[in-house]
Amino acid sequence: MINIKLLKGDALTLLKDVGSKSVDLIFADPPYNLSGENYLTCKSGKIAVCDKGSWDQIENIHEFNSKWVEECIRVLKDGGTIWISGTLHNHPSIGVILKKLKLWIINDIIWFKPNAPPLMQKNRFVPSTELIWIASKSKKYYFNYEIAKRISNGKQMRNLWIISAERHITSHPTEKPEKLLERIVLIGSKEGDTILDPFMGSGTTGVVAKRLKRNFIGIEIADTYFEMAKKRIDSTHLELNLGNFLENIKDSKSVQLNLDSKKNKKNVYIEPNSCIPRSEPHPPAP
Ligand SMILES: C[S@@+](CC[C@H](N)C(=O)[O-])C[C@H]1O[C@@H](n2cnc3c(N)ncnc32)[C@H](O)[C@@H]1O
Repeated sequence: MINIKLLKGDALTLLKDVGSKSVDLIFADPPYNLSGENYLTCKSGKIAVCDKGSWDQIENIHEFNSKWVEECIRVLKDGGTIWISGTLHNHPSIGVILKKLKLWIINDIIWFKPNAPPLMQKNRFVPSTELIWIASKSKKYYFNYEIAKRISNGKQMRNLWIISAERHITSHPTEKPEKLLERIVLIGSKEGDTILDPFMGSGTTGVVAKRLKRNFIGIEIADTYFEMAKKRIDSTHLELNLGNFLENIKDSKSVQLNLDSKKNKKNVYIEPNSCIPRSEPHPPAP
């Protein structure tokens, strides 16, 4: 019997109600703090100010990160792992906090999105990656090496994950692909384990946790996203055949860094998490 607990409100407060050392796996996709006048993105082919929502504009992001990461570490079991996604806007802060809390940093996953949209400015590289920190409280943590290898077609899985950003299933501006969460849940937990997502958004982690028969605790502050996640998770069915499921999510043998393939061009990500700092154009060469 799977237990799904969805909590509406501020993670900084609600995490305090979660028992110490009660969670096996945490996936956190926190505000990256990339919205606002200082960050630009591309909308309908035009440069626009990046605006994911007011939840993504935090005055003291490092203080905010310290508070929720500390609470997450309190609720994490000794043999559990925490996975935290980010971009350059936020991952240095998270890295410093993980070090300060003396956590064991297991890996940094580089999630490469082959279908990231081109950049309109000509003064930097095209942002096409996100980074996921993986850390634990001790050096003895759960990690399903065999499943990772199976997904990787019998080869050791590398820390470069090539997963296209998908068109949104929901209207949430930063919905993560289920494919990304499927790997994390399968490699970082077992059936019957408890998974926590303190920034649930549209509920992607909950959908995958339920499908793969894990218990789930999800926290979301915004009413609309909370209802969206609840509906999505409620209508998710349990996966009855794990063997078939694993076959279907295996890396395609042809996965390659082919940025120009026609297939990639068809599926351009609309508004990515790749807002970039506003900057002056480089002066023309003399
Ligand atoms: C980056 S999004 C998560 C997206 C999610 N991974 C998905 O696949 O849909 C972050 C979410 O955290 C929520 N949020 C922001 N601050 C919060 C807080 N203090 N407590 C709980 N939720 C918060 C936002 O409303 C937003 O939906």
